[in-house]
Amino acid sequence: MCGIVGYIGNRDVKEVLLNGLSKLEYRGYDSAGIALKTDDEISIFKENGRLDKLAKKVEKINLPSQMGIGHTRWATHGKPSEINAHPHFNKNKTIAVVHNGIIENYLELKNELIKEGYKFITETDTEVLAHLLDKYYEGDAKKTLMDISKVIRGSYAICAMFNDEADTLYCMKKDSPLIIGKGEKDAKENFIASDIPAILEYTKEVYILEDNEIGVLTKKDVTIYDTLGNEKDKPITKVTWTMESAEKGGYEHYMLKEMHEQPHTVRDTLNGRLSNSSDNITFENANLDINEFNKIYIVACGTAFHAGLIGKYLIEKLVRIPIFTDVSSEFRYRDPIIDDKTLVIAISQSGETADTLAAIRLAKERKAKTLGIVNVIGSSIDRECDYTIHTCAGPEIAVASTKAYTAQVICMYLLSVYIAKEKNLMQEDDFNTFKCAMLKLSSQIEEVLAKEDYIKDIVKKYIKAKNVFYIGRGMDYYVAKEGSLKLKEIAYLHSESYQAGELKHGPIALMESATLVVGIVLDEDLIEKTKSNLKEVKARGAKIVVITEEGLDMSDITDDVIYIPKTEWAFTSVLANIPQQMIAYYFATLLGNDVDKPRNLAKSVTVE
Ligand code: F6R
Repeated sequence: MCGIVGYIGNRDVKEVLLNGLSKLEYRGYDSAGIALKTDDEISIFKENGRLDKLAKKVEKINLPSQMGIGHTRWATHGKPSEINAHPHFNKNKTIAVVHNGIIENYLELKNELIKEGYKFITETDTEVLAHLLDKYYEGDAKKTLMDISKVIRGSYAICAMFNDEADTLYCMKKDSPLIIGKGEKDAKENFIASDIPAILEYTKEVYILEDNEIGVLTKKDVTIYDTLGNEKDKPITKVTWTMESAEKGGYEHYMLKEMHEQPHTVRDTLNGRLSNSSDNITFENANLDINEFNKIYIVACGTAFHAGLIGKYLIEKLVRIPIFTDVSSEFRYRDPIIDDKTLVIAISQSGETADTLAAIRLAKERKAKTLGIVNVIGSSIDRECDYTIHTCAGPEIAVASTKAYTAQVICMYLLSVYIAKEKNLMQEDDFNTFKCAMLKLSSQIEEVLAKEDYIKDIVKKYIKAKNVFYIGRGMDYYVAKEGSLKLKEIAYLHSESYQAGELKHGPIALMESATLVVGIVLDEDLIEKTKSNLKEVKARGAKIVVITEEGLDMSDITDDVIYIPKTEWAFTSVLANIPQQMIAYYFATLLGNDVDKPRNLAKSVTVE
C-alpha cells in the first residue's frame, strides 16, 4: 500500500527520492517523508497529506547527502499525521527506517521496549522497528537486521540507514514487495523501491528480493544475504516497461490513459496465445493438465473478483462443470473444501493483495494446485503459484482498475476456451468462430472508446442522480457488478448492482426520479426479460441508460442507449464494460473528484 524509495549515489538524493515517491504515490498517499544522510547526521522531513506539500517543505533544503530513504504512507496503525509519517528515528536519531506492511506483534514488542526505557512518540507499528534496530545495533547493521527478523512477526519491506555506516543502505523484506535497482555500469549508484515505476527512470536492471532476504547497498555494490547471513547469488531481472508506459502520456488522468490503452492491452494479452493460425490456445508458463482436477475455485478481490465471475460463467457454459467462486477474504476463513484434486485460480493485478495471497497459501497447504492470473511479474502471487498466466496489461497506476480488468477477462476467455478444448468439448468450427471474435475485440474496443464524448453527454444529463443501480441477468449481471463498483470507487455515489429479476423483491422500493438505472442488456436469451424489468423501474420514475448490442431497439425504454459492436455471446462482457468505465470516469470528473487517487483507497491492498 505504502511506497518506499531508497537511494545511494552521486545524484541529488532529495530529488531522486521525491521523484521516485511521486511515481509511487498511488500506492498510499495520506502522508510522506524523506530522510537524508549527511557526514555526521541524519535529517528527517515529513508532511501530512500529499507529496507536493513535502516537496514544498524541503524546497530550500540543500544538504550534502549521498544517501537517503523516502516513504509515502497509507495509514494502518495510527491516523494520517506528520508525526506518524515515515521515516522513523531511534531515540538518538542515529537510525532512520521506513516500512511497508504490518508488524503483527508490535504491541507485545512495544510493551517490552517501554519496560526497557524506550519512549514512543507515534501510534505506528513501525516505530517498534526503529527502537528494535537501536536495541540490537552493536556496530553491524546487517547483523542487526538479521536479529530483528527473528523477533518481528508480520509483513514488512524495510529500508534503513545508520549514522555510523555512512556509505551503506540496508533493506529487508517478508511478504511485502521490495526491489533493488542496480545503477548503470560505472554510475556508482544503487536504488531500492517497493515498486518498479519509482526507479524506472534510472535503471532497468533489478533484483527482486525474496522473503527473508537482506540487501546491502553501497554506491558500487549490491550484496544480498539470507537472514542467516549467507551471501546469495541472485539473478538480475531486466524490466521491459518503458517510462512512457508508466506515465500519463498526455491524458488528463492515468485512468483515462489506461482506458485508452485497452485495445493494446487486449492485443498484448492475446499475443502468443491465440492468432489467426492457432488451432488451440497456448499458455507460456501454464502447462497444467486440466484433467487432473475435479474441482475449480476462483478467488480474488474487488474488480479482479468480477473478472473471476466472468470466468465462472464461461467455464460453466462451455465445459458444464461447476466452478466455485469466493472473494479471497471469505475463502481463507471458510475452511474451503479443497484437496489435491482442486485447482485454485487466484486473480490479481498487483499480485500482492494480502487476502488473495493468503488464499493461495491456504490452498497450497491443503495440497490444491494454484494458478495465478497476475499482472505484476515477480510479485508474490506470481512467484508462489504453481502456474501463472500473466495479464500483460503493463503498469496500472490509477487506483481504479480498468485495463487490468480487461486483461483479466481476456485471460478468462482464453482459459475457458482452453479448458473446453482440452476436454474435447469444443468443435473446430466453434473454436474458429470464437477465435475470430476474440481477435476482433481489440478494434471493437477502439470503436467503443470513440463514443467517449457521447457518453460524457449522457453522464451530464444525470449528474444529479442520487442512487445508481446497475442491473442485468446472467453474465450481464456480473458486468453490472463491475460498473457499480467503479462508480462507487471514484464518483463516491451510492450504487448497487442487482440481478434484474430480483429488483421486485425489495430494491424496486428505491426507484424514483433521482434514481438512475444502468441496464446491461446483452444476453440474447434474456433480452426481453431484462427489458421488462427496465420498464418496471421506468414506471416508477427512475431514469434509464441502456448498454446493449448494435441493432437492438431500446426506444420503448430510453433514448440513452450506448451500443457496443456485435460479438459472440461469450465476449460481450469486455466490450460492455468500456462504457461503464467511461460513465464512472465522467461522473467522477464532473463531480470534481480526484479520479486517480480516490479517497480511502489504495492501489495494492497488502494488509488484511
Ligand atoms: C477496483 C480495484 C480493486 C482491486 C482489488 C484487488 O478498481 O482496483 O477492487 O481489484 O483490490 O486488487 P488486485 O487485483 O491487485 O489483487
